[in-house]
Amino acid sequence: MTKILEKISLRPYNTFGIDVMAELFCPYSSQADIKFLLNQNILNSSTPHIILGGGSNQLYTSNFNGLIIHPVNDTICIINETREHIWLKADAGLDWDNFVAYTVNEGYGGIENLSNIPGNVGATPVQNIGAYGVEAKDCIDEVHLVSLIDGTEKSLTNSECEFGYRHSIFKTKLKNQYLVDSVTFKLSKKPKFTLHYGSVKDELDRIGETSLKTIRETIIKIRESKLPNHKEIGNGGSFFKNPVLSDKKAKEILDKNPNMPIYDVKNGFKKLAAGWLIEQCGLKGYTNAEGTAGIHEKQALVLINKGGANGQDIVEVARLVQKTVFEKFEINLEPEVIIH
Ligand code: EPU
Repeated sequence: MTKILEKISLRPYNTFGIDVMAELFCPYSSQADIKFLLNQNILNSSTPHIILGGGSNQLYTSNFNGLIIHPVNDTICIINETREHIWLKADAGLDWDNFVAYTVNEGYGGIENLSNIPGNVGATPVQNIGAYGVEAKDCIDEVHLVSLIDGTEKSLTNSECEFGYRHSIFKTKLKNQYLVDSVTFKLSKKPKFTLHYGSVKDELDRIGETSLKTIRETIIKIRESKLPNHKEIGNGGSFFKNPVLSDKKAKEILDKNPNMPIYDVKNGFKKLAAGWLIEQCGLKGYTNAEGTAGIHEKQALVLINKGGANGQDIVEVARLVQKTVFEKFEINLEPEVIIH
């Protein structure tokens, strides 16, 4: 049975390294834990609660006067297998990159491009994490949930999750109603590689061999060269989503900035690179007056804790970025990080 811990520092549980306290903290292993919390009335409709996975996409601006539920279940099991595919059910509390490493070592393809992303398995469908031309939704078969309202179990198919760019039903209609207990991934035993993004293919050509292992190594190398390691510099990965604009608006900006990166997304819309927009505003490498928070010098989309930042310091940097980008480009950048 689970235990309820009181007045716990969340510093080890968020990659920004912000030191705030949670009033109550409960490790989650199985459905029985949620039933226990409901029966004890520790979890009820008036208790503020947060499901906290690896804390890689969360920014805390004050102490949390409620209940944190932290999945720690961590098994992988084979659900089904054919000659072409394997279905793996991965628990929410597993470290995402350990799971990716396992699939690559076993020769199962599909999520190798998502190597080295911080966080736990349970967050991957919520955020529909994505990198280097692949999104979690491409391999998610089912998401297994436990209701935070009555403790019952439920599974959603891929299409029921309403996945979009860094988006899912868990951020809208089902927000705060369910905990992700585990996720079933459909992976390929005869993988087709996704290599079109950025410098991935060039780097692989240099190595001279394209396999799940070399793709994983390449992605790790690219990420390590651009993105700070949160164990050394607190950060939440990309702080903002890349903005999606109408063709017309995107063309107006492109006409004035012919070197701007621009991507097709769907009919009538283009995606721009928020990091590029922020860099054009001269904010890459910015540090606030107190020296506590700023913008990474190699990737302007990443806001960083330079030492001793509180959540508000980071939020102020984010506001400065939004204001400056809006003044220059009339584009509203939307945070990808969840601010509490
Ligand atoms: N760019 C700049 N200056 C910068 C940053 C980027 O000019 O400071 C330019 C790059 O040169 C490139 C373009 O912007 O032409 C896109 O940059 P990059 O390929 O580095 O990727 P991104 O759009 O900044 C997205 C994801 C990342 C993911 C990478 C790789 C979002 C919000 N971010 O970043 O995801 O790793 O692509 O696929 O979609 C995350 O979500 O936390 C994350 C790190």
